[in-house]
Amino acid sequence: MSTVAEIFQTMEYGPAPESDKEVLSWLGKHERVFGHYIGGAWTEPGQLFDVMNPATSKVIARVTNGTKADVDAAVAAARAALPEWKGLAPHARARFLYALARGVQKHSRLLAVLESMDNGKSIRETRDIDIPLVARHFYHHAGWAQLLDSEFAGYEAIGVVGQIIPWNFPLLMLAWKIAPALAAGNTIILKPAEFTPLTALCFAEIAHEAGIPAGVINIVNGHGETGAAIVEHADVDKIAFTGSTEVGRIIRKATAGSGKKLSLELGGKSPFIVYEDADLDSVVEGVVDAIWFNQGQVCCAGSRLLVQEGVAERLVAKLRARMEKLRVGSPLDKAVDMGAIVAPVQLERIRGLVQQGVSEGATMWQPSWACPTEGCFYPPTLFTDVQPSSTIAQVEIFGPVLVTMTFRTPEESVALANNTPYGLAASIWTESINLALDIAPKIKAGVVWVNSTNLFDAAAGFGGYRESGFGREGGREGMWEYVKRAHGRRAPKSAERAGVAGAAVHQASATPAAASAPSSAGLPPIDRTPKLFIGGKQARPDQGYTRRIVSPSGVVVGESPEGNRKDIRNAVEAAHAAAKSWARATGHNRGQILYYIAENLSTRAREFATRIDEMTGCGARRAKQEVDVSISRLFTYAAWADKYDGAVHSVPIRGVAIAMNEPVGVIGVACPDEHPLLGLISLAAPAMATGNATVVIPSQSFPLAATDFYSVLETSDVPAGVINIVTGDKDALVKVLAEHDGVEAVWYFGARDGVRATELASASNMKRTWATWHERDWLDADDGEGREFLRAATQVKNIWVPYGE
Ligand code: NAI
Ligand code: MG
Repeated sequence: MSTVAEIFQTMEYGPAPESDKEVLSWLGKHERVFGHYIGGAWTEPGQLFDVMNPATSKVIARVTNGTKADVDAAVAAARAALPEWKGLAPHARARFLYALARGVQKHSRLLAVLESMDNGKSIRETRDIDIPLVARHFYHHAGWAQLLDSEFAGYEAIGVVGQIIPWNFPLLMLAWKIAPALAAGNTIILKPAEFTPLTALCFAEIAHEAGIPAGVINIVNGHGETGAAIVEHADVDKIAFTGSTEVGRIIRKATAGSGKKLSLELGGKSPFIVYEDADLDSVVEGVVDAIWFNQGQVCCAGSRLLVQEGVAERLVAKLRARMEKLRVGSPLDKAVDMGAIVAPVQLERIRGLVQQGVSEGATMWQPSWACPTEGCFYPPTLFTDVQPSSTIAQVEIFGPVLVTMTFRTPEESVALANNTPYGLAASIWTESINLALDIAPKIKAGVVWVNSTNLFDAAAGFGGYRESGFGREGGREGMWEYVKRAHGRRAPKSAERAGVAGAAVHQASATPAAASAPSSAGLPPIDRTPKLFIGGKQARPDQGYTRRIVSPSGVVVGESPEGNRKDIRNAVEAAHAAAKSWARATGHNRGQILYYIAENLSTRAREFATRIDEMTGCGARRAKQEVDVSISRLFTYAAWADKYDGAVHSVPIRGVAIAMNEPVGVIGVACPDEHPLLGLISLAAPAMATGNATVVIPSQSFPLAATDFYSVLETSDVPAGVINIVTGDKDALVKVLAEHDGVEAVWYFGARDGVRATELASASNMKRTWATWHERDWLDADDGEGREFLRAATQVKNIWVPYGE
């Protein structure tokens, strides 16, 4: 006779399989062969590729590989459907999104099983996480559709959007893409990943049933080339991509200068930071969710475990004990923790990286039990003795592999956490709220979870910093990715004058007399050697070249220095030195400095107006207006400095998600040619107000308002390095900024060629760009200032803080 306790000890798990019957009958209905869903109908199947269940290695269906002609047809269908869809009343679109949410819920079990069979992830996850979040996403965005006109007044749909998604959360990524696009009134062509096309096809049926008008949603399957055809299609207005940083970089380059709006959600190597006062048992469960959720194939997986030295040994022991109890097996078994890796090629990649970790000297540990040998399975894996610079500590493994490193002080933990080109997510574990909220803003990541991990919700934005991409998905911040300013830009009144003045580069010493305007007394003018403004000081340019600034009537107004690559590098260095403490200055403090600049500018208003008139020939009245608006604009951003609040998102947990607007960092700014003073202030002031340091390239034709401005800055308590000004050849200089890894964003206002070059060069470190050739009325308060500028100057960090016992 055994006791109950003994029985519990010896009990084994029996199989608890979820039935695949419904899925098999759905596949059977389609004879397991699929065309694309274009213009509200299924196309005839074309050239087919196999869809595999990675848990069994069996082919479960075949789908059509999209050709360029298929993409053309889908884009044409989306274009044709756009006017009507975009023109619907918000409430009508809200009803459609609501119907999609309902449709997903109605078919939730079918979708969960299908997802599990196609991807290999466990039914526990698809049933309890993926599919419920998909429905939640459509409900939430039905709300944004309803509120579009009031909450996004002055904005409208972008048009036809191309969306390319990965295989790790196939239907969830579809929802993250489709829901906001539809809510804002766009029409869509979406390409699922080649490993996991099936739930998107099932979704197409659900959308069809829900009565989504033909052409509003088009699903085209295929490989990378099909994706590339969407990216390169001339009639697509926006690309949204989730996937590898490598492909993200290709897409950034391919869309450069095309005018397509772009959002990228790329890879990560997210830190999971454990301080010594953390509750270690909670930490262990957190780690399970961070790195063994979805077999670690999660862009925001907590794949680097950073542990404070004093508790490292205890935590590793607890982790190994827990790993011993994890269960890997058939994804359809309801009692399984981990399913299969998506495809053999990914399995090989994981094996290769683990092998490399071992050969680079780290200690590898896996549980004693064995994985199923049929299908693509890989056991949970833990590395200790890892060097921060080693491959496994730097490269995204995208599998169930955790690397552990230790730190001593909180300061060290931040340095270690940020020692990555990525910046997607982070988890912070400590019982001290002080410590948690001190560390969260210091981590370069778009999402931070406090004593929790992998929390997602449609109301909270998700997205990265740096090589993890740009743009946010979810919440209000995600909606901005799918709208654009509604009113056609009025042509600025100064447009016809831009570029009239000739500019010749020559050696300064060769023409000393030309350095300033002729003196009325007939005496030789006092030579003013033009300089740059770097690190709070007027600095001589690296080379002695200057540019002669000539008025429209041919009078030499003055000279400006010709900055070069080295000057830009010095300016970026100065900006970096200033960025951290400027970001930490209070909004009130930054506002005070902007007011002070306005004050000092106003005392010299007449002088600036004269200078502007001399350079541009715009007339005294217009010149005065430009100075007046510049002063007002400084006031606008002084006002905003302590008012550009974040939000507390209403997420369905006991806790809050704090959406903080953080400065981007160091921003390179190439000013428009027109409005030499106002253009500069309109861009530099919002960047400063929100805590960024800038390197500004002023108007190329009329730079002297900027060089005169140095002394205004010098007398206004602007900390050294917060704003740096380098005059010269705009396109040459901005290219240096765009290629510079120390610059986090580049703004370019100018000609289309410059836009293209800027966007291309920005791919090096995937920096954010705001580059436009559209004309803008800088004098106008709608067009020339406001939230659009503040959004460009900030990025949203969502900090999740659960509370309660
Ligand atoms: P991938 O980036 O190649 O695939 C993502 C999507 O992009 C797929 O739909 C694919 O067909 C498409 N695609 C591929 N080349 C394209 C191109 N030139 N133009 C347009 N679309 C293109 O990722 P892959 O090869 O599946 O996985 C490789 C690695 O990427 C993984 O090991 C992982 O490290 C990372 N990855 C990261 C993801 C994330 O969520 N951040 C998701 C998937 C992969
Ligand atoms: Mg598959």
